[in-house]
Amino acid sequence: MGKILIDCDPGIDDSLALMLAISSPELEIAGITTVSGNVPAQMGGENARKVLKQMNRMDIPIYIGEKVPLSKPYVDAMDTHGRDGLGESFLPAVPGEFPEKHAVDFLEESLEREKMSILALGPMTNLARLFKRRPDLIDQVEELVSMGGSFKSHGNCSPVAEYNYWCDPEAAAFCYEQFAQAGRKIHMIGLDVTRRIVLTPNLLSYMERLDPETGAFIRKITGFYLDFHWEYEGIIGCVINDPLAAAYLVDHSFCCGFDSYTAVETEGICRGQTVVDSMNFWKKAPNSHVLIETDPKEFMYFFLSRVLKKKDGGQWNKEELSLLETLVQG
Ligand code: BDR
Ligand code: CA
Repeated sequence: MGKILIDCDPGIDDSLALMLAISSPELEIAGITTVSGNVPAQMGGENARKVLKQMNRMDIPIYIGEKVPLSKPYVDAMDTHGRDGLGESFLPAVPGEFPEKHAVDFLEESLEREKMSILALGPMTNLARLFKRRPDLIDQVEELVSMGGSFKSHGNCSPVAEYNYWCDPEAAAFCYEQFAQAGRKIHMIGLDVTRRIVLTPNLLSYMERLDPETGAFIRKITGFYLDFHWEYEGIIGCVINDPLAAAYLVDHSFCCGFDSYTAVETEGICRGQTVVDSMNFWKKAPNSHVLIETDPKEFMYFFLSRVLKKKDGGQWNKEELSLLETLVQG
């Protein structure tokens, strides 16, 4: 796989996805761009920097992007991710300036130079701005993997809508339409699949036993998220959406799905809903590959073996992580 660009809104699960992407030698991260979503774009950049520091990868550049959605008023998700976007861990700020260059300019220059894949983990505002300006650059996108929407499951911020597409439905709708026009497909990792990935207190304890430092960092940023899930969804554990998209980018066999035409509703009670024409009523060429199934145990094995460090510097193997068999839900 060539270079990738990560567009995100860190965000607790975005941070876990960054950790996984950074720990995956298959992915060469050309840059991280932030967009207002879970938290304002600037705070997202500051959080990404905290993750890069934890991972000793301060060399990866971070560019701050769009501050508000294309036309809807901006609504953050700090109720879910905490006032600092990292589960109210209030980790110390990492000093330093961000480059002057806007995220959309960076994305444009990068794709002009060479083909790259994009891992989109937040609202699609930066990407919509980019493709409005340069629709031709869609051909330079190797693959666009977007965490957002849902095929058949209920939403997480309305009965039908998932947050990333609900937050900026015009941006998501535009990207899907543009990909249709270009004859390309967006890989849509929606809530149908990401809901299967639950980080439980037992898994957290296991991680801390295996790698106390990384485990403690993950515990610090996910505690608030666990409380939120107990209060609003009645589950003991937290759904971590974005890391599955990173895993899928590394290896498509982590999820399976089907090709279809997808549209995004922008108004009314269905705002942000992905309307997936799985029965081909519209007779339109597919503009999406809709992922609907995953294997949580395989994912957790992959996540732990990649993100957790081993004392001898090697990589964890399946036998060493065999306890996962009993710890992973689903
Ligand atoms: C998505 O919205 C955000 O809260 C998460 O970071 C994820 O990208 C899930 O709906
Ligand atoms: Ca996100």
